[in-house]
Amino acid sequence: GYPHFMLKEIHEQPQAVTETLTGRLLDGGLVDLDEVHFPPGFARSLDRIWITACGTAFHAGLVGKEILEGLLRVPVEVAYAHELRYRDPLIGPGSLTVAISQSGETADTLAAAHLAKQRGSRLLAITNVVGSTLSRDADDLLYTRAGPEIAVASTKAYMTMLVTEYLLAVALGRERGTLSPEAAADLVAGLRTLPRVVEEALAREDDLRALAEDFAGHDDVYFIGRGLDAAVAMEGSLKMKEISYIHSE
Ligand code: F6R
Repeated sequence: GYPHFMLKEIHEQPQAVTETLTGRLLDGGLVDLDEVHFPPGFARSLDRIWITACGTAFHAGLVGKEILEGLLRVPVEVAYAHELRYRDPLIGPGSLTVAISQSGETADTLAAAHLAKQRGSRLLAITNVVGSTLSRDADDLLYTRAGPEIAVASTKAYMTMLVTEYLLAVALGRERGTLSPEAAADLVAGLRTLPRVVEEALAREDDLRALAEDFAGHDDVYFIGRGLDAAVAMEGSLKMKEISYIHSE
């Protein structure tokens, strides 16, 4: 039904987000993370979170840092897996390492996750592929449920990683006591509206096509943003390079 898979996958985002949320949002701002089984007191005693990933998943991790630090009041380090695996990082027991990988098979991410486990960290995997190596290595597991991804540009995969990070942050924030029931209920209500909001954004496709026709003649594209938007700008720039071969920063 679409001229190519990338367009199809962009349009599958509302459905993908719905799948990510299904069965996980409870009343009263509570979130049910079925395959996360932290030991009692773990969330409260957590001293640091490490996020490790490559490419698009790393950019999702940058967003995750903002969300998790904001809601949990705990320091979060985001590290490229292809760097972390060759470093001597201060990862220790009392930390949680979140490894993010669409495929669950990226060699660098698996190596970084392994290193974190060796150093006594608890390993939580965020991945799309059921039964992937990362899913089997992890202590705790959150599937993004994006569905199969064929196009090179991770679109619905990236989107569902962000939503999964929000779910984790709300659950942990409630458990740590850093997120009030009212604030959690607000966030959960926001998550519920997300598929519709994504649909509204996608309905503006004609406007975007007009902009793209204008931009297509340019040699360099710069994405500018601060905070959460800086992370999104990095991902936007990666998409631009990967798909158009136009130089972008
Ligand atoms: C970007 C892209 C790559 C992947 C990276 C990590 O659109 O496809 O940069 O994001 O190779 O892959 P996963 O998430 O499978 O570990």
